[in-house]
Amino acid sequence: MPWSISTMDHQRRVYSNILELAANVDNPTPLVRLNRVVNFKHAVVYGKLEWFNPFGAVKDRVAANLVQDAEARGQLGPDTRLVEPTSGNTGMALAMIANAKGYRFTATVSNKVPQEKRDSLRLFGTQLFELEDDLCPAPGAPEGAIAKAAELGNEQGSFHLNQYKNPANPEAHFRTTGPEIWRQTGGAVTHFFASLGTCGTVTGTGRFLKQQNSKVKVYGVHPAAGHDIPGVRALKQLEQTAIFAPAEYDGLVEVSNGDAYEMCRRLNQEESIIAGPSSGMGLSGALRTIPDEPGVVAVVIFCDDAFKYASSIRKHLPSLFPGKPQQTSLAGPLASILDLARKSSDVLDAKSAHTFLETTRNSSLVDVRSLEEYEKQHPQGALNIPLADLAKGEPALLSADKDTPILTVCKVGERSLHGMLLLKAQGYRNVKSVAGGLDSWLAAGLPTSRT
Ligand SMILES: Cc1ncc(COP(=O)(O)O)c(C=O)c1O
Repeated sequence: MPWSISTMDHQRRVYSNILELAANVDNPTPLVRLNRVVNFKHAVVYGKLEWFNPFGAVKDRVAANLVQDAEARGQLGPDTRLVEPTSGNTGMALAMIANAKGYRFTATVSNKVPQEKRDSLRLFGTQLFELEDDLCPAPGAPEGAIAKAAELGNEQGSFHLNQYKNPANPEAHFRTTGPEIWRQTGGAVTHFFASLGTCGTVTGTGRFLKQQNSKVKVYGVHPAAGHDIPGVRALKQLEQTAIFAPAEYDGLVEVSNGDAYEMCRRLNQEESIIAGPSSGMGLSGALRTIPDEPGVVAVVIFCDDAFKYASSIRKHLPSLFPGKPQQTSLAGPLASILDLARKSSDVLDAKSAHTFLETTRNSSLVDVRSLEEYEKQHPQGALNIPLADLAKGEPALLSADKDTPILTVCKVGERSLHGMLLLKAQGYRNVKSVAGGLDSWLAAGLPTSRT
């Protein structure tokens, strides 16, 4: 008799197809108790290790359900091109599911997503559009990753899965993550924490756990504005995500870059758990919130491992790399100059920037993007001086008076920071930059023009 083995044997971990590894209540990702980074006398805390999913992250669950749901609704043909904006993990899982099922896959990503993730997407066979956007694609950004995916998804033979709005996203967690945690803790879980991106994890898992026991406390952990933690969103961006349901959570916890990366380091070095930065963020927020009381059993989602974030870790934990300067020795100090500028009082939100223009005499608004971008749409009254021209010095379009009030603007507020610093370096004393760029300008309902 030929050798045969029953398929989908979770006990022996033998499978006939990689997709059978998908996590569910019969094949859960591990829950591991944390022993050294937790100082509680009574409360116990578990991390749920989501890199045990077949493609390496919590988003495997969502990708599988988005595709299954679209198939069940008859929305996909045999050669459909799936399209999705991604901060990396959803795209990586979709790429592999598309390969396994015979679909094509196109991802739109921000050019600030770690290089390691963009490289992996290409390795997995993804057609990749890299766009200027926030670290996590910003809903509402007219030329960002989400808008581009919507545009591509409308093309013949394409389908935009839309994890930011699609109920199949939280449903994946309602069907798998929640039941796994309930069963793994024997119904003893009292507190649940997830870091917030699309909010599928916190909303879907939280709904399931509260349905089993309405006393379970559910918390979302988010980074501070201007953060550098891939995959997650600060509060202002969360409000634009349809699956963010704060009324259903017991609280939101904010964590700084520093605390997130330090907890990531401690998880790796003290617990021997290979968690990445957003796991460090989730745990840091959880440890501040969990009451140290008898009977408390907390579960924190550890979304993915550290390996995709080598460049971010190098940047945020420089003491780990003594004597190994960054690629150019000025990269660190220059990043610090930009960080300081970003937090300075010279960066104005769109409304204050508009007031600044209206109330200062002889002010100039300078759009530092390319002519092509400027021509499509720009804040009303803006001049166009692309960054490369500003860098040449003494811009002819500006007054020679170094006290002239100048406001720089771009698409999301990054290039305009460079522009502001370049002008200051040329002696202009009253230069400010628009936080969030044209995207925020539009969100604030301020006027624009096209040429
Ligand atoms: C590394 C990482 N952490 C956290 C999250 C947030 O998960 P969710 O989108 O379910 O809120 C994501 C989402 O892509 C992620 O990639």
